[in-house]
Amino acid sequence: MALQDKDRIFTNVYGFQPWNLAAARARGDWDNTKALLERGRDAIIQEIKDSGLRGRGGAGFPTGMKWSFMPKESRDGRPSFLVINADESEPGSCKDREIIRHDPHKLIEGALVAGFAMGARAAYIYIRGEYIREAETLFAAVAEAYDAGLVGKNASGSGYDFDVFVHRGAGAYICGEETAMIESIEGKKGQPRLKPPFPAGAGLYGCPTTVNNVESIAVAPTILRRGAGWFSSFGRENNKGTKLFQISGHVNKPCVVEEEMSIPFSELIEKHCGGIRGGKDNLLAVIPGGSSVPLVPAEQIWDAPMDFDGLRALGSGLGTAAVIVMDKSTDIVRAISRLSYFYKHESCGQCTPCREGTGWMWRVMERLREGDASVEEIDMLFNVTKQVEGHTICALGDAAAWPIQGLIRHFRPEIERRIAERGALQEAAE
Ligand SMILES: Cc1cc2nc3c(=O)[nH]c(=O)nc-3n(C[C@H](O)[C@H](O)[C@H](O)COP(=O)(O)O)c2cc1C
Ligand code: SF4
Repeated sequence: MALQDKDRIFTNVYGFQPWNLAAARARGDWDNTKALLERGRDAIIQEIKDSGLRGRGGAGFPTGMKWSFMPKESRDGRPSFLVINADESEPGSCKDREIIRHDPHKLIEGALVAGFAMGARAAYIYIRGEYIREAETLFAAVAEAYDAGLVGKNASGSGYDFDVFVHRGAGAYICGEETAMIESIEGKKGQPRLKPPFPAGAGLYGCPTTVNNVESIAVAPTILRRGAGWFSSFGRENNKGTKLFQISGHVNKPCVVEEEMSIPFSELIEKHCGGIRGGKDNLLAVIPGGSSVPLVPAEQIWDAPMDFDGLRALGSGLGTAAVIVMDKSTDIVRAISRLSYFYKHESCGQCTPCREGTGWMWRVMERLREGDASVEEIDMLFNVTKQVEGHTICALGDAAAWPIQGLIRHFRPEIERRIAERGALQEAAE
């Protein structure tokens, strides 16, 4: 059964109502936030743990557990910080922008609740540079929250002082990686740090820091109000809650929709997207979690539960739940090659396997697209992806490797066909 309206957290995701504080309050945001904080840090963290919420930024790390890694109190006077990741640069992902432009107070209230739970002095919301209108809305909403005494000194009358800063990025995908984001906020070049130390030990300005995705933070107040039991009543074991899915590509009605985690792919597409363009039989493949996860061919995805474990079982992942649908008109080799170009372009250049490997992989992909290669090069390319994967400072290397691996795993005959076709043409010309 599809998610009912009464169980939707983001009730203004389409912007039918204003985003402002008065409208947000009417929707239930900032309703006695003081009482939420009065439950105490441990109780809030426990509730989030019990809800089964897993990070919505891609990796799916349990959110409550992440918060619990923060120091209970400062031993040396250093403050703690919450960094909220609104960089959203993964191709296909477009949910955080909808939260920010239509429901920004959910995020700001979430920042206070989460920040309080982890003992943070302030939240930094790092927003993608290209999100110009969204940033304007966010700045205005934060100002409203300050004016109403909801954040700042004695936030929401709780006796807790909590600031919220908005920081605009300059449009680099790599700044979405949590330690690159921290570097960027500090005013440095956005390049990932070697871990350890992890941000919870030494993050922003060398202080304990937690980085969370916009959606992970924005759902927290509703979970506290409605209870962990309510949130965890959606989805399968280990894959709980509601989730914003973003469906793009060859469906009749691309959309962003909040649905129950674990909804079957077919139901998501038929119920919310008007079906596949040209009908179910016209589906070729789906990239289910944003461009960095391997594609899944049509026959495997149709009945699959859209959640972390269901998609992992298919050799892919839920990622940000950015579902890119490709029908049979797609030049699949070209599509993946274009993604390879993206990763080559966005590599920060710190580690050799990524800096050199992304360019090398893209150049081979371009030749495969034309069939201008030998069959052995397919295996060579696969081997190179394995040498990049897991051998770099951050996961951009993996993100560049996985789409190619998915292509070779599922569409090798198509690549070989192109090579044979070009070979035959050349022979005929000689
Ligand atoms: C190259 C790269 C880009 C990333 N981009 C984003 C992003 O735009 N938004 C995001 O929330 N997480 C992004 N992440 C994941 C973050 O590093 C981090 O895991 C996430 O913000 C944690 O939030 P969560 O626990 O709430 O999911 C990216 C990771 C990598 C390696
Ligand atoms: S994997 Fe790529 S993007 Fe990540 S740190 Fe290394 S060079 Fe930079």
